[in-house]
Amino acid sequence: MNSFVLPKKAARLIVLQRIELAGNILKKIRKLFGRYFFSNFVTKYFLNSVKISNEYYKIMYDEFLTIKKFINDDDNLFLSIGAGVGGLEAIINQNLPEKNYFFIEKNYISKKVKYGWTGQSNSEAYNSLDIQKEFLLANKMNDQQINIIDFDGGNLPMKKFDIITSFFSLDYHYDFDLYINYLKKVSKKNTKIIFDTIRADFFKKIFKNVEIIKSRSDTVHKSKRIMCSEFIEH
Ligand SMILES: C[S@@+](CC[C@H](N)C(=O)[O-])C[C@H]1O[C@@H](n2cnc3c(N)ncnc32)[C@H](O)[C@@H]1O
Repeated sequence: MNSFVLPKKAARLIVLQRIELAGNILKKIRKLFGRYFFSNFVTKYFLNSVKISNEYYKIMYDEFLTIKKFINDDDNLFLSIGAGVGGLEAIINQNLPEKNYFFIEKNYISKKVKYGWTGQSNSEAYNSLDIQKEFLLANKMNDQQINIIDFDGGNLPMKKFDIITSFFSLDYHYDFDLYINYLKKVSKKNTKIIFDTIRADFFKKIFKNVEIIKSRSDTVHKSKRIMCSEFIEH
């Protein structure tokens, strides 16, 4: 299998979550007519789901390759903050079966999607938790493996996770501060926390170990993906 089973409504969310999937024509329409028109009309009516499915699969497979070597056989509890519909986790599951996945996401779609830093306000979101679950089930994850938590519900899962990922979400869209106390509670000494940021050096003051695993110049911000472990202060 080298594409996802992709319901049309999930395709729309994915384009909001990953601008690179919109294609040049749609990006031009977005520039000409603005973010509101793009988010509410174009992504609803003018998408090629098959193309998006193939490309999203390829992007997520490449993302999987950036983190594969950090996943040990006995890592079982995965937490993803802002996973979008969860293409990365679907691929992890297809390659390393029988893990358990927790997702913290938001359950609404901003009227004007902004790709990039939204600062402390943390009010931007592009997801539907029902569509996320439907997508994961359609792509071979079992119901028992899936735990989706609405960030705004406030009841965040209190487990010691093995791997925590947040791609183009934590410290890319909104400040790391929003989750720092929570992450201290749900991580162990060897929990690997992997996310994208434009201030990799800053995290050397927060974690004992910080490793840059990928640099990107093609995103809205020139970001780095870092793998961190062990908070310096608990
Ligand atoms: C740019 S998208 C990235 C999605 C996915 N990680 C990917 O790489 O394709 C950012 C995601 O973060 C989610 N998000 C925004 N604020 C959040 C928060 N406070 N907690 C968890 N997720 C959040 C959005 O709904 C959106 O799905």
